[in-house]
Amino acid sequence: MDIGSVLKEGEGGDSIEEGILVCSSPRCLSEYPIIDGIPVIVPDLRTYITNNVLPILGRNDLSDTMESLLGDCLGPGSAFDAQRQHLSTYAFDHYGDLDPGEIAPASVPPGSVVKVLGHGLEAMPLSNEGPVLDIGCSVGRTSFELAARMDRLVLGVDLNFGMLKVARAVLERGIVSYPKRKVGITFERREFPAVFEKSDNVDFWACDATALPFSCNRFAAAVSLNVLDCVNSPYDHLSEIARVLIPGSRATLATPYDWSTGATPVQAWLGGHSQRSAHKGASDAILRSLLAGGGHPGAIEELELVSEKEIPWTLRLHDRSSMEYQVDMVVVRKKAIS
Ligand SMILES: C[S@@+](CC[C@H](N)C(=O)[O-])C[C@H]1O[C@@H](n2cnc3c(N)ncnc32)[C@H](O)[C@@H]1O
Repeated sequence: MDIGSVLKEGEGGDSIEEGILVCSSPRCLSEYPIIDGIPVIVPDLRTYITNNVLPILGRNDLSDTMESLLGDCLGPGSAFDAQRQHLSTYAFDHYGDLDPGEIAPASVPPGSVVKVLGHGLEAMPLSNEGPVLDIGCSVGRTSFELAARMDRLVLGVDLNFGMLKVARAVLERGIVSYPKRKVGITFERREFPAVFEKSDNVDFWACDATALPFSCNRFAAAVSLNVLDCVNSPYDHLSEIARVLIPGSRATLATPYDWSTGATPVQAWLGGHSQRSAHKGASDAILRSLLAGGGHPGAIEELELVSEKEIPWTLRLHDRSSMEYQVDMVVVRKKAIS
C-alpha cells in the first residue's frame, strides 16, 4: 500500500498519535486509521473496529475499585473479562520479570516466551539487510528483545488492540500497566517501569498475520511465536511468511498446536483431526510435509525446514492456575533465488 496522506498529526515527538492513512491508488482510496499511535492496516476495517471497540474506546483512568465494580457487573465470560484475562496472562509472562512488586517467588515464573525466543534466535542468524517482523507480538516484549539482540528495525504486529496498547505504552512511556488476575474476576493493577535498549527501532501495528500489508521480499527475519494455532488460516499465515521474507532469510515458528474452533475452523487445522490419514492427524508431521520437499500437494515450496525442537512454554492463568505446553519450534528458510 502507498500511503497517500496523513490527515492529522499528533503533538509530541516524531510519533503520530492519530491520523488516517489513505491508499493513493485512485481505484482503492481505502482508509486505515492510526489510533493511539497504532496504525490499523487490516483487510476488513469494519469488522476489526467492531471486534476491538472495547479497547479502542476503553479508558484507563478508572480506579481499581471502579474497574472491579464494572468487572462484577459484566461478569465472567464478558468481552471485558476476556480482555482482562488475556492482558493478565501475556503481560505477566512478557514483563513480570521486571515488576518490583513481584516479591514472592511466583508459582509460575514469567519470561517463558523470552526463553522460547532465545531458542529461535540461536538458529536464526541474519544473512540479509532489512527489518525484522514479530508476528502476533501481543504486548510486545519479544519485539523489544529482537531490537536489542538483532540491532535492526523491528515491527511487532498483532490483531488485539488492547494488547497493542500495552505494547505501545511501554514504547512511548516506558511503563507496563496491566490488570493481573488473582482469581475468578478479581484483578489487581500492576504498573512499573520497563525500558529497553534500542526501543527507538521498534514499532507496533495492527495487522493480520494471514494478510500482511507488506510487499514481497521485505523482511530479513520473522518470528511467529504461538500464533499458528490462533489464526483463521494457518496455511495463509505460512504463505504470508514465505512471501514477505527476503530470499535466504529465516523465520522461527513456535506452536503448541492447541487447536480450537474459536480461532480456526476444523478444516483449516494442520492435523488434529483425520487420524485415519497417512499422518494420523499429527500436526507436526503435517507442518513438515507443507515445507519444501515434505511431499504435501499444497507445499509452500519457497520455505525449507532448517531445524526443529520441542520447548516448554508456560502461561499463568491466575494465582492458582497455569497452563504448560510443549511447543514445536521450527526454523524455516526462504530458498535463495537460484
Ligand atoms: C497465543 S498468543 C501469543 C502471543 C505472543 N507471541 C507470545 O507468545 O506470548 C497469540 C497472539 O496472536 C494474535 N493473533 C491471533 N490471530 C492473529 C492474526 N490473524 N494476526 C495477527 N495476530 C493474531 C493474538 O492477538 C495473540 O496476541
